[in-house]
This record gives sequence, structure tokens and C-alpha cells, in this order.
Amino acid sequence: MAIAYLNGSLLPLEDAKIPVLDRGFLFGDGVYEVIPAYGRRLFRLNQHLKRLHNSLQAVNIPDPMSTEAWQNMLEKLVKQNDVDDQSIYLQVTRGVASKRDHAFDTTLKPTVFAMSTPLDTTESPGSVKGIAAITLDDIRWQHCHIKAITLLPNVLLRQQAIDAGAAEAILVRNGFATEGAASNLFVVNNSLLLTPPKGPLLLPGITRDLILELAVANAIPFREADIEASALATANEIWLTSSTREIMPVTTLDDAPVGTGQAGPVYKRMTALFQAYKSRLRADEDPLAGG
Ligand code: PDD
Repeated sequence: MAIAYLNGSLLPLEDAKIPVLDRGFLFGDGVYEVIPAYGRRLFRLNQHLKRLHNSLQAVNIPDPMSTEAWQNMLEKLVKQNDVDDQSIYLQVTRGVASKRDHAFDTTLKPTVFAMSTPLDTTESPGSVKGIAAITLDDIRWQHCHIKAITLLPNVLLRQQAIDAGAAEAILVRNGFATEGAASNLFVVNNSLLLTPPKGPLLLPGITRDLILELAVANAIPFREADIEASALATANEIWLTSSTREIMPVTTLDDAPVGTGQAGPVYKRMTALFQAYKSRLRADEDPLAGG
């Protein structure tokens, strides 16, 4: 039975209930994180908590817990759930108001919810043969660096990709590719790894940051640079990355093969480094030691 956390208590997921006047329910007024745990060890917890804190601050919700309290709660939740590899979803909403009103009362008590789902990355769509993606106009707002629960554009974009027989949408704004509907974007051009720089038009992905750290540690040439949408068609490799899907090679884009149409050599190298990092984390070793 899945165990969840709601406002101070651990309880069976099906017993976790919130009042309908919660602003998360009425307005999508809240922020979230998705944190993997491998071998029950939380992956890059400090980085996830820092991003959570930044999201809360950006939307003026007080951080309801200290870093230590977050860590204790999340470790307890991971322990209580019965699988080694888990994906922890956590969200903080602005809380329950007395009536529906767009404007908010700054003294509301935030609602804190977290749950665990088994994480099976061996089945992740990109692990074997790569995925298909399509490019779509980025119809989201201008604050995509905030991990807000208000995900209707992302939901519609992802669904449009699925309906077109693809696994993910690559979003294009003003002629530049920003990221996926729920993933960050990497391109390989003549052995140079490229990813768009952080800014308000994309989420600062934790997986993205680790890939750049692994590139530094292993002398893989990379640059953070804007990627013109038109350059995707001639890329040698395209990857999409996220906490739940790790690194996915995109082998078909808009119905045309990417590069050779197979997962490329830079992807293979990076995914091996990423898996080695996970193995060290599982074994409770310093995951960045040795590359
Ligand atoms: N989404 N960009 C967007 C828009 C995302 O929603 C995500 C992750 C990422 C990748 O970030 P990270 O590497 O920190 O997971 C980039 C999560 C997994 C989700 O919404 O379920």
C-alpha cells in the first residue's frame, strides 16, 4: 500500500484528502518537485530543495519547513514505501482559503503533500531504441523557471505529441527550441553538446545540471547556448532529460530521422556516466567520485 504525507502525517495514499477550497485545487496555485530515489537514497536532494525554495519564493508562498524538516520527512516517506527505486512527488499549495478569490491572503497555511510512486527506469522509453518527438509552439507563460503545478499548457502539449504518435513535444518560442513539455533539451552538433541557458523560458532541470557536471568531469565539450529550432533538423543527436525518464535519445523528430536515426555515441557515453553515478548513489558512495 502506498504511503503518502499530508500536512504533518504519513497515511495511506487513498486516505489523503484536501478541502475543495484549497487554492491548489481551485487555481493551480502551488509549486512542486519530482525527486527520484535510487536504492532508497534521494537523488540530488539539496538541489531539489533549493529549486523548491526558489519556486516558493517566486510565487510568494512561505516555505513551510526547514531544509532539515524536508529531509527528515522525505527520508521517512521513502523508508515507508516498499520499493527501492521511487519517484517522490511533492507539492506545496498556498493553502485553504475561506472563499474563492483570485487575490490571496498572505497568512494562509500552505498545504504540503507528498507521495511515492515506483520508478522503473529500465522501461524508460529512451533506454533502448530512442523516442519520437515533434516540435510545437511553446504556448506557456513567461515564468517557466518556476516549477508551478499549473500545468495545463504542458498537459495539452504532451497529449498533442502522444496523439501524433510521439513521446514528447519539443517547444519552440520565437524561433528557438526551449525544452520539452516535461523535460530539458540537449543537442549534439559535431561532437559539441549544447543545451539552452537557464532563464525564465525553461525549467532549471536537476538532471540537466548533473549532465553538465558529468560533462565537465569527463572532458566532454559542451556549451550553454540558444538553439535555433531550424538547427534541430541537422543535429547529430537530440536528447531530452528528466528525473523520471533520465536521458532519452530522440531518434525521430517531426517524422524524420535524427542523425543516423539511432541513439548516438555521445548519448551512449553520457548515459553510461549517468548510470554509474546512480550505482554509486545506490551503494552509498560519493556519486561524483571517479567521474
Ligand atoms: N518534470 N522541464 C520541464 C517543463 C519539466 O516539467 C521537467 C521535469 C524538466 C526536467 O527537470 P528535472 O530534471 O529536474 O526532472 C524540464 C517532472 C519530472 C514532472 O513534471 O513530472
